Amino acid sequence: MTTTLSVDELRAAVARELPGVRADLEALVRIPGIAFDGFDFTPLERSAEAVAELLRREGLEVQISRIGDGHPAVIGRKPAPQGAPTVLMYAHHDVQPTGDLRQWVSEPFEPTERDGRLYGRGAADDKAGVMAHIAALRAFGDRLPVGVVLFIEGEEEFGSASLEALLAKHREELAADVIVIADSGNWDIGVPALTTSLRGIVNSFFTVEVLESAVHSGMYGGAVPDALMVLSRVIATLHDDQGNVAVEGLVSRPASPLDYPEDRFRAEGGVLDGVELIGSGRLVDRIWTKPALSVLAIDAPKTSEAPNAIVPKAKAKLSLRLAPGDDPKSAYEALKAHLAKHVPWGAKISFEFEHDGNACVIDTTGKYFDAARAAFKEAWDGTDAVEIGVGGSIPFIATFQDMFPEASILVTGVEDPNAKAHGPNESLHLGEFARVCLAEALLLRNVSLA
Ligand code: BES
Ligand code: MN
Repeated sequence: MTTTLSVDELRAAVARELPGVRADLEALVRIPGIAFDGFDFTPLERSAEAVAELLRREGLEVQISRIGDGHPAVIGRKPAPQGAPTVLMYAHHDVQPTGDLRQWVSEPFEPTERDGRLYGRGAADDKAGVMAHIAALRAFGDRLPVGVVLFIEGEEEFGSASLEALLAKHREELAADVIVIADSGNWDIGVPALTTSLRGIVNSFFTVEVLESAVHSGMYGGAVPDALMVLSRVIATLHDDQGNVAVEGLVSRPASPLDYPEDRFRAEGGVLDGVELIGSGRLVDRIWTKPALSVLAIDAPKTSEAPNAIVPKAKAKLSLRLAPGDDPKSAYEALKAHLAKHVPWGAKISFEFEHDGNACVIDTTGKYFDAARAAFKEAWDGTDAVEIGVGGSIPFIATFQDMFPEASILVTGVEDPNAKAHGPNESLHLGEFARVCLAEALLLRNVSLA
C-alpha cells in the first residue's frame, strides 16, 4: 500500500495547486447555471460538462446523471485502496439567480478580485465547494489514500427535486464511510466550523382573489375589499407582535451555546440603524433552531403602472424555515390552516406548493469527526473548529442520513460571514479558501489513518 503524504507535503502540494484551482473556479463562475423555473437551462449542461471534465482529469470514472427532465448531476468515482475507507464529497454546481443586476459592483458571471475576495455568483456558493474537493484530489495526485465519490448536484438552489430519485438510482455507487458536504461555511475569518444543524424549508405560494377583474376604485372602493389589502391582513397574522412566527404546531428547540453578538450579526447582515431584530430568545435560537417565515415576493400591479382600480388578485411567495425535528409536510399543512383561518371577508384563496426540504441535526462523535477537527485545527494554525448551526437548508443531508445511517457526515464549506450568498456581490475570501482546500486534503489524510 502506498504511504500517504505528510502534513508538510500536503501543505506544499495545496499551495502548488492553488493557482490552477483558482483558474478553474473562475471558469466555472463564468457559466451561469441556474435551475430556477423560467431560466435557460443550457448553461447547466455546460457547467455539468465542465465539472465532469475536471473530474476526468483527476482520473475519476465519471458519469452525468439526471432523472427525467431534472438537471444534470455529476458523479465521479475512484475506488479505495485495499482496506481504506471511502469518502463521498458533495457540492452543487447550480447557482442562485443574480437578482437586480444594478446592485452588482462587477458582472455576476465575470469573476473579479477585489481586496482579497473573488466576486461573482457562485464564487462561494457553491462552486468554491466543488473546487475545494478537486483541490484535495490534486494535492494527492496518484497517492490518494482513500476511495472517493464526488456527487456534484445541479439543482440544489431550486429545491433538489430529483435528489431522492438520484440517490436511490446510484445508491450502491454512492455508499461511503464519510460524507463531506462542502456547502456551508465557517464561523469567522480565521475560525473554522463544523455545521451540526440546518433548518428545513417549505416554499409555497398563496393567492387571494376578490373580483372577476379590476374595477374603478372610486365606484367600488369602500365596499369591495382589494386583494392587496386582504393579502396584507393575512400576512400580518403570520407573526406575533414580537415577530415570532405565529403559526401553531411548529417545532422550536434551543441551539448550540455559541454566542453570536447582536452587533456583529447586525453589521454582517447590513441591518439599517434603528431597525429592530424580531423574535424572542437567544439570537442563535432565532436564526438556527426556531421557525422563520419570510414573504419573498408579491405579484401585484407595479406602482408605476397602477390605474385607479381595485386589485382583483394578489399572490405572495412565502418561505418557511423549520427547526430541526419539524416535518415539512405537516408544517405546510399548519401554514395552510393558519392562512385559511385568517382570511377576512370571504376572499377566495388558493395555495401552491413549490418545494420543501428536511432539517437535520448531526451528532459529531466518532473517529471521523475527530479526524476532521484535527484537520481543521492544523489548517487554521492551531485554532479549534467551533460547532455551528445554520439557518439555511441542505435537504441532501437528511436524505443521506436516512440512506446511510452509519456514515459520518461532515458539513464544511467556504462561506464566511461576508460571503453574501444569494445576494448581490457574492464573494469568496481567497485566504480562507486556501485554508478550506488544505483542511480538506488534511481531512482525507486523517480519515485514511483513523
Ligand atoms: N449553501 C446553502 C445552505 C447554507 C445557507 C449554508 C446558509 C450555510 C449558510 C444552500 O446552497 C442553500 O442556499 N440552500 C437553499 C435550499 C433550498 C432551495 C431547499 C436554501 O437554504 O435556501
Ligand atoms: Mn449552497
